Amino acid sequence: MNNNELIQKLNWFYSLELNQVDLYMAQSKQIKSKDFYISKVLERASYIEQQHVNNIADKIKSLGKTPTSLGDVIAPILGKMSGNVVARTGLITMLKINIMLEKKAMDDYKNLIMKIEKEDDLFTLLWSNLIDEDLHTSWFSSKIQELEKGLGK
Ligand SMILES: [Fe+2]
Ligand SMILES: [Fe+2]
Repeated sequence: MNNNELIQKLNWFYSLELNQVDLYMAQSKQIKSKDFYISKVLERASYIEQQHVNNIADKIKSLGKTPTSLGDVIAPILGKMSGNVVARTGLITMLKINIMLEKKAMDDYKNLIMKIEKEDDLFTLLWSNLIDEDLHTSWFSSKIQELEKGLGK
């Protein structure tokens, strides 16, 4: 993988992470009166995604380039499930959407990890972001189970 390809991939993560910061913060505000605990978790998740934005941005800068957002990368991942649907479709759908995004991030982190030398700083960075996404996914999944139980499913 040459430097340009790497920068392209890093800009992809930079964009996805930026989108997640905004989405989780918007969701957190939307559901504050409905479920305070989930709202606080989303606020915390947004903060962690911001750390991912920052660590990816720092890496791009260390390679002599400027982090560049590709705009809205969430809509193409979700397809018909628009992020705006969230408020209307309820907590379970919202959490399922979030899991889709986390899984996309995890897949892409894993793919890039396999192309990076173990000795590279980036290897460590990608791993730590990947584990954070895995923890987010686990929490979202267990909350879905809990909510579905409450609905008698
Ligand atoms: Fe992230
Ligand atoms: Fe995440």
